[in-house]
Amino acid sequence: MAIARYLLGGLCLYTSAHAQAFDSTASNDDAFSYVQPLNTTILGPYGHSPSVLPAPNATGNGGWEDALAKAREFVAQLTLEEKADMVTGQPGPCVGNIVALPRLGFNGLCLQDGPLAIRVADYASVFAAGVTAAATWDKGILYERGFAMGQEFRAKGAHVALAPVCGPLGRSAYSGRNWEGFSPDPYLTGIAMERTVTGIQDAGVQATAKHYIGNEQETQRNPTFNPNGSVTDVLFEAVSANIDDRTIHELYLWPFANAVHAKVASVMCSYQRINGSYGCENSKTLNGLLKTELGFQGYVMSDWGATHSGLATAEGGMDMNMPGGLGMYGLYPQLGSVWGGNLTAAVNNGSLPESRVDDMIIRILTPYYLLGQDQDFPTTDPSSADLNTFSPRSTWLREFNLTGPSNRDVRDDHGALIRRHGAAGTVLLKNENNALPLKSPKSIAVFGNDAGEDTQGFYNQVNFEYGTLSVGGGSGTGRLTYLITPLEAVKQRAAQDNALVQQWLNNTLIINSNVTDLWIPQVPEVCLVFLKTWAEEGADRPHLDVDWDGNDVVESVAKYCNNTVVVTHSSGINTLPWADHPNVTAIVAAHYPGQESGNAIVDVLYGDVNPSGHLPYTIALNGTDYNAPPTTAIQTNGTDDWQSWFDEKLHIDYRYFDAENITVRYEFGFGLSYTIFNMSEITATAVETGISSLPADQPTQPGGNPLLWTTLYQVSLDVSNSGDVYGAAVPQLYVSLPDSAPEGTPLRQLRGFEKVYLSPGETQSVTFDLLRRDLSYWDVVQQNWVIPEGEFTLHAGWSSRDFQAEAAITVVSS
Ligand SMILES: *[C@@H]1O[C@H](CO)[C@@H](O)[C@H](O)[C@H]1NC(C)=O
Ligand SMILES: *[C@@H]1O[C@H](CO)[C@@H](O)[C@H](O)[C@H]1NC(C)=O
Ligand SMILES: *[C@@H]1O[C@H](CO)[C@@H](O)[C@H](O)[C@H]1NC(C)=O
Ligand SMILES: *[C@@H]1O[C@H](CO)[C@@H](O)[C@H](O)[C@H]1NC(C)=O
Ligand SMILES: *[C@@H]1O[C@H](CO)[C@@H](O)[C@H](O)[C@H]1NC(C)=O
Ligand SMILES: *[C@@H]1O[C@H](CO)[C@@H](O)[C@H](O)[C@H]1NC(C)=O
Ligand SMILES: *[C@@H]1O[C@H](CO)[C@@H](O)[C@H](O)[C@H]1NC(C)=O
Ligand SMILES: *[C@@H]1O[C@H](CO)[C@@H](O)[C@H](O)[C@H]1NC(C)=O
Ligand SMILES: *[C@@H]1O[C@H](CO)[C@@H](O)[C@H](O)[C@H]1NC(C)=O
Ligand SMILES: *[C@@H]1O[C@H](CO)[C@@H](O)[C@H](O)[C@H]1NC(C)=O
Ligand SMILES: *[C@@H]1O[C@H](CO)[C@@H](O)[C@H](O)[C@H]1NC(C)=O
Ligand SMILES: *[C@@H]1O[C@H](CO)[C@@H](O)[C@H](O)[C@H]1NC(C)=O
Repeated sequence: MAIARYLLGGLCLYTSAHAQAFDSTASNDDAFSYVQPLNTTILGPYGHSPSVLPAPNATGNGGWEDALAKAREFVAQLTLEEKADMVTGQPGPCVGNIVALPRLGFNGLCLQDGPLAIRVADYASVFAAGVTAAATWDKGILYERGFAMGQEFRAKGAHVALAPVCGPLGRSAYSGRNWEGFSPDPYLTGIAMERTVTGIQDAGVQATAKHYIGNEQETQRNPTFNPNGSVTDVLFEAVSANIDDRTIHELYLWPFANAVHAKVASVMCSYQRINGSYGCENSKTLNGLLKTELGFQGYVMSDWGATHSGLATAEGGMDMNMPGGLGMYGLYPQLGSVWGGNLTAAVNNGSLPESRVDDMIIRILTPYYLLGQDQDFPTTDPSSADLNTFSPRSTWLREFNLTGPSNRDVRDDHGALIRRHGAAGTVLLKNENNALPLKSPKSIAVFGNDAGEDTQGFYNQVNFEYGTLSVGGGSGTGRLTYLITPLEAVKQRAAQDNALVQQWLNNTLIINSNVTDLWIPQVPEVCLVFLKTWAEEGADRPHLDVDWDGNDVVESVAKYCNNTVVVTHSSGINTLPWADHPNVTAIVAAHYPGQESGNAIVDVLYGDVNPSGHLPYTIALNGTDYNAPPTTAIQTNGTDDWQSWFDEKLHIDYRYFDAENITVRYEFGFGLSYTIFNMSEITATAVETGISSLPADQPTQPGGNPLLWTTLYQVSLDVSNSGDVYGAAVPQLYVSLPDSAPEGTPLRQLRGFEKVYLSPGETQSVTFDLLRRDLSYWDVVQQNWVIPEGEFTLHAGWSSRDFQAEAAITVVSS
């Protein structure tokens, strides 16, 4: 979804080259012809994006049958014009709107951003970002966060939450939106998707898994239009994410499969092209992978302005055009829509079967009925309309019936929960000389422009210099109603010890100073340095350092303070070049914790909460160590030339570093605690005998062949706390496939984790379920998941490189 800022900068009244709507020349094949042939050596059998037609009808299987029958009954009563309204967005009070149909008692649909808060709202909570939630490695928290967000969307009258995110997955460390999602590991992200979707939908709100698929960079995610040209004048098409069949299945589709398995209502198709074809008209990914292979029963909604054709999108499997208008980000409804009236025309002239439109509506209304949104759903809070900069009232073309109380406070007691989530996702990376937890220091110095009050308001759209950073920018941000800063929380906590707290929040000043001239003559007992790293939608990160010369701030402080504790509030990966500095005694990655930021970090610093977060990504020694960078420039000027080759295939993040044996600073899964955990040997028990290599053919259920989701092995181990304090361990299980697996198989892949809360002296048994999919690879020839023959190695440990126990199993007998 685009952010309102582009409204100001853009003013571009251009539509896409593909906005040919439903004229007689439009054909689905247009979406699949390329200026340059794609390299089939690299792409293998995937080669290019083949046509998969027609779009499959929803069947409602997997428990949606009754809701589908209601949807079908509703559709039967619609005129063709009403049908076009049901699938084409209109400017209105929410960022996406489907108009009401009072004749049939349908109140319309309100769609709102985003993945960490209901963004277009007042008196709503700002939750921890996806990256923080992933760093908790806590399935309970992932659900609880989703449920609480769902409650707020519902209370504000939003039927559809544009959340959660698993595209980007995090192919590149530099991608600007990784923090909105969870982790570059598809298994961790898959669990996070499943838990979040279930949480949101249990609260009665439709979840949207986005952005489907291969949306791994922001640069050139949309076409470039000729500012002097006509509506068909595209200078450059959007970047094409060129992904081979095995990689798309084992990495990028994997977490979407979890979302579909959790019965997600909606999937948002992405801006960029996939293997040459735009995300919202790619019939291979939509009709093929999503609706056929995964058995998705909900609807595909376009990203904002990602609809570049009429017939090709409708036939290709898209079901809802958002926000409905023409042009960049769909911002020009006054110019019409490639759906809307064009859709009716296409049905009337026989180019598009009406049954395809009926299926769109059935897919849209089935989750609506399933979640009971036809019964007592709260009205859209009228204040949404006033806060909506994306489609302000002046842009509305239709009437909206805004009733019910305005400015509803929907926050409930979520602040306490957000504080707990923020602390649980805080990762302790270094802790020398027992620097942490703090032991009632009497003299504290606070440094850094991330410590204090925000100076540019509570709705962050720019990389502001002064003030703490609690979330990133773009449509995935939130509108804060309050923010607990680190400095405020430190001062409040330090008051209990009658401590002296001194502060310097100007990075330039700190860098240019001899800090011994700043503080009182005695060296402070602890120097807390708060640094930040901005990331936002629409731009990839230019570097992996902390912002605002944060590295120099650390050097300046650590030169004279032998107990320097560094805290980062960051979108994710920072390379931390000063990590080995002897005076940097502790490093804490606090990511984007949301509105309770200061309380959450102080809980950890003072030991009221024992840190238990673990990295959901790898921190390398150097930014140049990461592979798979975004495509940031092209050397040629052909319209089609923006190509991003995912030729690292399965080797992203730790899979790459492990394959290449590259030393890293802090590996995937790493995180320290204030206590000591021990792990026993592991035992693996087959749940079934006579396991076949391939799953038997079964009718597809949401998530694909249901046999992929059955447990084949259970792996058990004991975890104990042999330290002095209560804490939570995160035992992790990595699987190495046998040598018979095809070339390119990663050395080890995460296939189980659990968060275990333990009192001192306590031991708990943990069991990991290994599903058929967890033990399979995607076979491009057989077009199926295959369990390889031979010996698997199971590695259990505290990170992707710290193993405590191993076991070997043979799953299929040859
Ligand atoms: C396709 O890619 C392979 C592997 O990178 C390369 O060897 C080959 O030259 C490429 N072929 C074409 C036609 O570009
Ligand atoms: C979808 O259902 C309609 C009947 O409602 C039928 O005419 C059409 O052929 C079906 N489409 C597919 C792809 O099965
Ligand atoms: C658009 O027109 C301006 C003014 O004539 C010119 O400077 C610019 O290069 C043109 N841009 C393109 C992409 O043609
Ligand atoms: C149909 O699409 C074209 C662009 O291809 C647009 O100019 C026209 O306004 C659309 N018609 C309607 C009724 O939206
Ligand atoms: C407006 O909404 C209210 C409350 O949902 C409803 O009672 C009323 O009938 C609606 N009016 C129209 C014109 O749709
Ligand atoms: C920050 O410090 C620098 C260097 O001392 C100074 O030039 C700048 O004005 C300061 N900024 C503010 C906002 O005080
Ligand atoms: C910084 O100040 C301390 C204490 O006055 C002094 O010993 C040290 O030499 C100074 N460092 C520099 C680089 O001037
Ligand atoms: C660490 O701090 C002490 C002051 O406590 C200072 O003397 C020493 O030079 C510092 N070490 C480094 C490597 O900067
Ligand atoms: C820091 O230096 C002080 C003396 O300046 C010393 O008492 C203390 O032990 C040192 N702390 C560490 C962690 O080295
Ligand atoms: C990172 O790697 C690049 C390229 O090898 C090198 O130029 C640079 O000095 C390295 N940076 C650090 C901090 O090691
Ligand atoms: C870009 O296009 C221009 C003509 O529009 C051509 O003269 C130039 O050689 C092209 N540049 C490259 C790098 O292909
Ligand atoms: C990886 O590096 C370690 C330590 O340098 C070495 O012992 C090992 O043989 C290397 N493994 C591979 C596969 O290169």
